[in-house]
Amino acid sequence: MDDKNLTRRAFLAATTGTIAAVAASRVPLYAKAGKEAGKLAIHGGKPVRAKAWPAWPQWDNSANEHVLSILRSGNWYRGQGNTVTQFEAAYAKLLGAKRCVCTVNGTNALLTALHILDVGVGDEVIVSPFTFIASYNVILNSSALPVFADTDIETLQIDPDKIEERITERTRAILPVHIYGLPANMDKILAIAKKHNLVVIEDACQAWLAEWRGKKVGTLGNLGCFSFQNSKHLPIGEGGAVVGNDEEMMDRVMSFHNCGRPFGSVKRTTDYPIVGTNRRMTEYQAAIGLSQIKRIEADTQKRVENASYLTSRIKDIPGIVPHKLYEGVTRAAYHLYPFRYKKEQFNNAPKEKFIAALNAEGVPCSGGYGPQYRDGLIEAALNSKNFTRSFPKARLDQYRKELDFPANEQLCQEAVCITQNLLLGPKQDMDDIADAILKIYENRDKLA
Ligand SMILES: Cc1ncc(COP(=O)(O)O)c(C=O)c1O
Repeated sequence: MDDKNLTRRAFLAATTGTIAAVAASRVPLYAKAGKEAGKLAIHGGKPVRAKAWPAWPQWDNSANEHVLSILRSGNWYRGQGNTVTQFEAAYAKLLGAKRCVCTVNGTNALLTALHILDVGVGDEVIVSPFTFIASYNVILNSSALPVFADTDIETLQIDPDKIEERITERTRAILPVHIYGLPANMDKILAIAKKHNLVVIEDACQAWLAEWRGKKVGTLGNLGCFSFQNSKHLPIGEGGAVVGNDEEMMDRVMSFHNCGRPFGSVKRTTDYPIVGTNRRMTEYQAAIGLSQIKRIEADTQKRVENASYLTSRIKDIPGIVPHKLYEGVTRAAYHLYPFRYKKEQFNNAPKEKFIAALNAEGVPCSGGYGPQYRDGLIEAALNSKNFTRSFPKARLDQYRKELDFPANEQLCQEAVCITQNLLLGPKQDMDDIADAILKIYENRDKLA
C-alpha cells in the first residue's frame, strides 16, 4: 500500500480487512489521514453515524396471548398458576443448573442468596468496587461490611490476587460480580474460597449465558444471582433469579422467598417452618420471560461476534485500550462493551470531552462506574447504630484506612462503555463505531 496518497476512506477500508498489515506504520498513516477526516460533529461537522441503532428491548408477539390469557384468568400470583414454575425450569435448563427460583428483581435475588448462606450482622463480604450500586447495597442491607478488593484494570473484574489480603476472621463470603457480562477469574476465586472456607455468591446480574471453562457463570459458586430488569439481555421490566445445584439449599431459597412456607426438605412442621419474606415473581412477568428466553442465545452469539470484530478494529488506535478476557473465559455476554481511553494520546482531552465527541458522532456511550465507596453511603453505614454496635471501632477505623484502590480509581477515570444494543446490528455498525473513534483520534488536536 502506498501511504503517500492514502485517504481516510482508504485507510479505513484497509484497517477493516487487514489492520495487522498497516499497524506497523499506523502513526504516520493516522497523521496523514487526519487532514481529510472532516470536522468533528461536536464542532458542527457531519456525524459518522446518522442511522438509528437497534432498539432495546426487542420482542415479538409471542408473549401477547400468554400475558392476556393470564390477565383474563385472574390467576396472577404464582400460587395460582404454573408460569413462574415453567420459566424457572426453562432458565435452569438454559444455564445447566439444577434449580432456579425467580424473585422480584436481581437485588432481591442477591439478598435472598446472602440470607440463605447465613451472611449477616458482623460478617464481612469481599466484593469488587467496580460495579452497580446494588452489589454494595445488598451487603449493607444484610448488616455486613462490603470489603472491596481492588480491580484488575485489564479485565475490569475483581483482582483475584488482591482478595486474600482482605480476608479477616469475620469474612464469610466472596461476592464476585461478572461486570459487563465479562466473567471474573473463577478458578482463583473458588480456590481462595475453598482454602479459607468461604461461600461464593456470584453476582451474574449482567452475565446471562457468559461462560467460564464451558460452564455458565452463576452456576459455579454456592449460589448465582441474575437480573431481568428492562435494560437486561433477558428483559422483563423487573425480575430476578437465584440459581444453584444444591437441592436442599434451593429448597430453602424457595421457602424463604415465599414467606417461609414449607417446600421440599423444608418440612411442614407448621405453616411457616422458617423465617421468610415475600419476593415472588408474578405470572405475567414469567410469561414475558418465557418469550424472551427464545432469543437470548442468538442475541448472545451476535454480541460476541460483533464485540470481537470491534476489538480488532480499535485495538491499534493509539490511546484506545480494549478490555481483556481471562484465559478461562469461553464466552462473554457483553452487557456493555468497555475500553479504556488514554487522554495522553488524545491531546490530553478529558474523557468527558471524548465521550461527548463520540456521542456527537452518533455513537451512544458512557463513562462506567465511579468510585462509589467515596460517595458517602459507606461512611453513613459505618456510623449507623447497626454497624457501630456490630463491629469494633478499631475494625471500622482500619476499614476506612483501606478504602484506597489505585487500579479502580484509574479505571473509573479511563473506562468508556458502549451499550449492548449497539452490538446487535450488522458488522458495518461496528465499522461506524470504530470510524467515529478514529475520526476523533485524527482530530485530537482540536479536541482539548
Ligand atoms: C451488577 C448488578 N448487580 C445487581 C443488580 C440489581 O438488579 P435489579 O436491578 O434487577 O435489582 C444489577 C442491576 O442492574 C447489576 O447490574
